[in-house]
Amino acid sequence: MIDQSIFLRALRKENNEVPPIWYMRQAGRYLPEYRAVRSKFKNFLDMCKDPDVCCELALQPIDRFNLDASILFSDILTIPDAFNLGVEFKEGEGPVFNNPIRDTHAIDNLPSFDPQDLSYVYECVSNIRSALPAELPLIGFCGSPWTLAAYSIEGGSSKDFAITKNFIIHNPVKAQYLLKVYTDACFEYLKEQVLAGINAIQIFDSWAGLLNKDDYKIFSLTYINDLVNQLKDDPVTTDIPVIVFAKQPQGGIKQLSICKPECISLYWDESIEDSINILKGVTAIQGNLNPLILKEDNAVIYKELEIMMSKFKDYPGYIFNLGHGITPDIDPDKIKFVTDTVRNL
Ligand code: CP3
Repeated sequence: MIDQSIFLRALRKENNEVPPIWYMRQAGRYLPEYRAVRSKFKNFLDMCKDPDVCCELALQPIDRFNLDASILFSDILTIPDAFNLGVEFKEGEGPVFNNPIRDTHAIDNLPSFDPQDLSYVYECVSNIRSALPAELPLIGFCGSPWTLAAYSIEGGSSKDFAITKNFIIHNPVKAQYLLKVYTDACFEYLKEQVLAGINAIQIFDSWAGLLNKDDYKIFSLTYINDLVNQLKDDPVTTDIPVIVFAKQPQGGIKQLSICKPECISLYWDESIEDSINILKGVTAIQGNLNPLILKEDNAVIYKELEIMMSKFKDYPGYIFNLGHGITPDIDPDKIKFVTDTVRNL
């Protein structure tokens, strides 16, 4: 039974002999088999819109490393794309929005969200679900409303997101309206993912760190909380565990537990001891090996894992992961080494 999988057990805060393992960005450019498929597409989003290809990509790391959870192959920017913001991924530049949200009119004129515009994602979910072993959980995901809004206003990636910060200072009410629109879209989107077969949800608040503690509450936490509440209140999504990943939230991770996710995914700079003290008995923990360690020799990696695993040894509900995604420069053999080591420590 899938409910007895070590991943879903951990999300219920049940202890496992060996922690479940998966990796953020487990399907990606560090895998030669990914690059082979990727080379057939000019625009990354076109690849995301092909459910058969996405199914193949999601299975690549499972086949190679025998991981304990699979993650939908897609991207968080499918939602802004469905709002006609013209999302494109340019070589070496990351995402670029052809129609970013630069004034309040753009927010007033947003089209209403039709979850069926993202049917290619749900088709991909059902393809992956049918291809996976029955007892292997599949994670669905979305970006947090704040992270999606930050990309949408900024028009892409940036070091400091100055345009976004300026926009929310001058238009706080309109910004909050946009955040609510994105929150409701995320809910509809995740509900469709659940109907198509996902077994857990991860919400990525990758740009949490842009906001100070007070603004984080106003512009991000409020909407993650609203999203989790909508999920808990709907009979379709109520039993699906939710993981929240927030990168460098000012004011710490304790505030995330207020949203009542089943699990908090720690960025690599979070203290394990402090996190355990704050979250024990409250949520499961996922994380948080520094991805940079994967550049080191196996002996260095082993030592680091030994320390990390001893800290999490008795934690009720621990999921092994990195503290952020695998980068393209990582040797896949390192992922195999880490996986084997964690299972044998
Ligand atoms: O294995 C998986 O994790 C699969 C699916 C996945 C992707 N992106 C595929 C992807 C997931 C869960 C994401 C989430 C995502 N996307 C986040 C949150 C996680 C985080 O990193 O903080 C964010 C911020 C994005 C937005 C995004 N997508 C950016 C900024 C970029 C460009 C930079 C980069 O890393 O390439 C992407 C592209 C992207 N998303 C790739 C993949 C495999 C690489 C695209 C390529 O091959 O050209």
